[in-house]
Amino acid sequence: MELYEAVFKRKSMRKFDEKLKISDEEMNLIQSKLKSLKKLTPETEVEFVIKPRRETNCRINAEYCILAYTQDKPLWKENIGYMLEQLDLYLATVNIGSCWYGLGKTKEQELNGKLYAIMFCFGKSTSNDFRKDENEFDRKKVEDIWQGLKNDNIANAVRLAPSACNSQPWKVKSDGKEISVYLRQKTDNVLTRALSKYFNGFDMGIFLYILELALDKHGYLYERQLFDNGETELTLLAKYAVLNL
Ligand SMILES: Cc1cc2nc3c(=O)[nH]c(=O)nc-3n(C[C@H](O)[C@H](O)[C@H](O)COP(=O)(O)O)c2cc1C
Repeated sequence: MELYEAVFKRKSMRKFDEKLKISDEEMNLIQSKLKSLKKLTPETEVEFVIKPRRETNCRINAEYCILAYTQDKPLWKENIGYMLEQLDLYLATVNIGSCWYGLGKTKEQELNGKLYAIMFCFGKSTSNDFRKDENEFDRKKVEDIWQGLKNDNIANAVRLAPSACNSQPWKVKSDGKEISVYLRQKTDNVLTRALSKYFNGFDMGIFLYILELALDKHGYLYERQLFDNGETELTLLAKYAVLNL
């Protein structure tokens, strides 16, 4: 299965059968994947540490957690989101369930000059644990996130991107030749607004990765430009100039 197909299958796995274990071979693959993840901001150094979940405060009964550490450079949250979403999708292709775990805390706040960013847990699952149908996703409609010209397949794939508290803080404007991606600060739910605000950067990185995966899949060539504009109600994060129209 390709990563693109995993977009339609993945879900946040919050319940694991503890009799199922990650094999040594799977663990080796995961470790090598972690080393080969594409960065959004190549100049930012990151480090991932895998720990048995019981050594963390993660309350999901996954077998392992990944603790992500990063240099404090522009767009560091977006970069981690972009990177670990590649792993999230890869794991779904091999029936390993995973869940971003923003609530994860650790005493080891620093590692080799890098700061703790976020936790992510995973454990062996079965194909039945994953989604079979797009209707199983609780998401905004395409019309609510994408304004202007679109390829329906691409707009529908990015709609399914995961986000903290399912806040889906993105907005796309497109004239076909240029696709602009914005962070939209408001969430509909007052309770989750404060919590999701911290995680918006990770969410946006996840979104950009899935957008690029979909553009690649449907044969679009593009040049990406990133912006680090601070935070307003609608903040431009990235522009994709489509080259082959
Ligand atoms: C950055 C980030 C942090 C998250 N933190 C948590 C968390 O602490 N606990 C949890 O149960 N789910 C967490 N999630 C999972 C989201 O709630 C989930 O992705 C969203 O509700 C959409 O559901 P889905 O992933 O099953 O499609 C997080 C997701 C993201 C992207």
